[in-house]
Amino acid sequence: MRPVPDHEQIELTRAELDRLVAGATGRLAGCASGEELEAATSEVLGRGSALSAMHRALAQVAPEERPALGEAINAARRAIEEVVERLRSELSVRQRAARLQADRLDLTEVLPSRLPGHLHVVTRVWEELEDVFLGMGYEIAEGNEVETDWYNFTALNIPPDHPARSMQDSFYLDHGGGESVLLRTHTSPVQVHLLERGELPVYAIVPGRVYRRDTADASHLPVFHQIEGLVVDRGVSFSDLAGTIDAFVRAIFGSGVASRLRPAYFPFTEPSAEFEITCTICGGAGCRTCRRTGWIELGGCGMVHPAVLEATGVDSETWTGFAFGFGIDRLALMRHGIEDLRTFVENDVRFLSQL
Ligand code: DAH
Repeated sequence: MRPVPDHEQIELTRAELDRLVAGATGRLAGCASGEELEAATSEVLGRGSALSAMHRALAQVAPEERPALGEAINAARRAIEEVVERLRSELSVRQRAARLQADRLDLTEVLPSRLPGHLHVVTRVWEELEDVFLGMGYEIAEGNEVETDWYNFTALNIPPDHPARSMQDSFYLDHGGGESVLLRTHTSPVQVHLLERGELPVYAIVPGRVYRRDTADASHLPVFHQIEGLVVDRGVSFSDLAGTIDAFVRAIFGSGVASRLRPAYFPFTEPSAEFEITCTICGGAGCRTCRRTGWIELGGCGMVHPAVLEATGVDSETWTGFAFGFGIDRLALMRHGIEDLRTFVENDVRFLSQL
């Protein structure tokens, strides 16, 4: 063992070489990234490294010791290089895994087919309706299930004593305040919210839950679903409305089912109509469900009443529009030829699993 005449004060021995390999291995193994590893590699193998200093110190060693020590230095270098190689590939695998983890997409939404069961038929019809109207360029809007009197009635041209209020028996909420607050009886109040935004034109549909004080029977549920449509633009006409209704009935039911409009009355549209489709239970021949008429009423529609436009600050001279609203549950009923709405909420798996 002799001191090396080098400023690094290196001892050129096998024991020192072993310690150096161990130290370098520890230093390299502590690297967390490729960049860190490359920096540490030049530290332990580069020109400024202890190993290189040892190599230079070889010149000072007695000639007969040189070959063995030289070979030991080379072996130490190879040992360290092997460690570097191994760590390089481990780190690149780890970095790739980390990148994949970070870029991961949440695909759980497309996995329901692997779950037991399936979406409820009303949900499926709801989603199909959204698809049909999205395809026609409509936006899908959402409203509130709890509304004030203004949105549910007054702004829709249904004043306090109007008989239309008794057509829709409401659930009122007792919140101890001034204005009446209720569970919306229809999706039409969302027309008011949409118009109040002041962004015209509007092409929107609004699917959602509505509430009425009805006793459940074959054709009524106290909680059910409607879809509202609202179009307000320049120069919208009644034939645009009729064409729209016809287009979506065809898209949902196929060409075997026809639709028709019949004059009706709604306070928020003028003129107003009810729209009906061929009864799918009897194919139009007449049965108990369609009261022998061959037609089933799906919902109401009409040209947006100027009073509704004015109540929401829309100039009814410039803008015209149509609206429609119908029951999603009833549409699902007709689509599948089911006779009783209550089967949708009884949760009888034997029934639900058929649809
Ligand atoms: N809101 C009405 C109801 O629940 C349905 C309706 C009729 C909606 C005519 C409309 C419409 O948008 O224009 O009975």
